[in-house]
Amino acid sequence: MKQQLITGLDIGSTSMKMMVARKIASDSPLEIVAYAEEPSSGVRKGVVVNSEEAAKKIMMLKNRIESAIGKSSIDEVVVNIGGSHLFLTPSRGMVAVSRADSNISQEDIDRVLQGARSLSLPANKEVLEVYPRHFIVDGEAGIEDPIGMRGLRLEVEANAICAFSPYVRSLAETIQTADLGVADMMPSVLAAAESATTSQQRERGVALIELGAATTSVVVFEEGHILHLTVLPIGSANITHDIAIGLRTDPETAEAIKKEFGSCNPSHGKRSRTVEKTGMGSVSFSQKLLSHIIASRFQEIFQLVQKELKKAGRQGKLPSGVVLAGGGAKLPGVADLAKKEFKLAVRVGSPLEMVNAQDDPSMLVVAGLVRRAAELTDGKEYGGGDFFKKVKKVLKAFIP
Ligand SMILES: Nc1ncnc2c1ncn2[C@@H]1O[C@H](COP(=O)(O)OP(=O)(O)OP(=O)(O)O)[C@@H](O)[C@H]1O
Ligand SMILES: [Mg+2]
Repeated sequence: MKQQLITGLDIGSTSMKMMVARKIASDSPLEIVAYAEEPSSGVRKGVVVNSEEAAKKIMMLKNRIESAIGKSSIDEVVVNIGGSHLFLTPSRGMVAVSRADSNISQEDIDRVLQGARSLSLPANKEVLEVYPRHFIVDGEAGIEDPIGMRGLRLEVEANAICAFSPYVRSLAETIQTADLGVADMMPSVLAAAESATTSQQRERGVALIELGAATTSVVVFEEGHILHLTVLPIGSANITHDIAIGLRTDPETAEAIKKEFGSCNPSHGKRSRTVEKTGMGSVSFSQKLLSHIIASRFQEIFQLVQKELKKAGRQGKLPSGVVLAGGGAKLPGVADLAKKEFKLAVRVGSPLEMVNAQDDPSMLVVAGLVRRAAELTDGKEYGGGDFFKKVKKVLKAFIP
């Protein structure tokens, strides 16, 4: 088997991450061969606002990885799309079965899904992807896989993930400026779900919350399908901002304090700490105050998420609980705090079935993008099936 290298690129508001993996054998798990991260540039609230700036960073990542693996072999990436312009909407499609013998074929499935893509949307919005929920054959609903069945009329009920077109275009432009191709675009939160939840959990009911720097995304799955998806314009950077104000210091120092001493546990002692500011003297604070600032903001974020779970009708009702991802999930005690807010089992996600993967929740998005890239290269699924089965991509859609 040819050893193909597969690449995921996570363009975030504060950091950009690139991961390259390979497969030794067709049935072996993916093996990470290189990973690099750079501070982000040209990205605000999950959206590319300056393609040139963002492309420079992507080229830096590409060069770093290529010199680490000693090859210039990255020419195409699966990239995330972030930002609160993303939304989920139900869609339907209907076609007459094409074959004379009424046997439903892949071609009918492709056509009916294509039909589900062409729903009427507000101005400047477009469908990124449709995910079938179930098929209907001659009025009989709830069919998972109609291929080979006989029928005259094939319908599909699907979920469409939609985005603001100018943001999709600027992302595609950025990747092109960095001299790379776009193999696929995937919402960050779905990529994280692909790497940190099993198909069994998605079948039973699970929520994934991605605690990014500028955004917090939520996706709820049930019966293997997306029930709800939303991106909130608030994140871990708000915590840094609160720390800077609360401790009367600059944002850089606040960020360093958060990473070194940050915690959501109010019981983390009465210790007082003193930290040198970057060339500006020092700042003193109590651990208790720091934990209080962090926990308060997380509570606010989780209350917003809880509203989303309520909209999905799954408040307190998810058998497989909640999985946390994103850099914000690195703060000690965040899972316990979330557990109190949601009254559900909560855990920090780890990447499933990947060799050399670090147990770092901020890498779950890029790991999911790599999985998606692998699926595209060999047509096999790594997320454990069902939901991530997608419509064949019309890649031209991403070319600006
Ligand atoms: N060890 C750590 N402890 C606490 N917070 C951390 C740690 N490491 C990273 N973070 C925080 O995580 C955030 C970055 O997370 P992540 O990389 O998931 O965001 P992003 O992808 O850049 O942003 P977004 O997804 O919102 O566009 C930053 O706010 C950073 O302060
Ligand atoms: Mg992110």
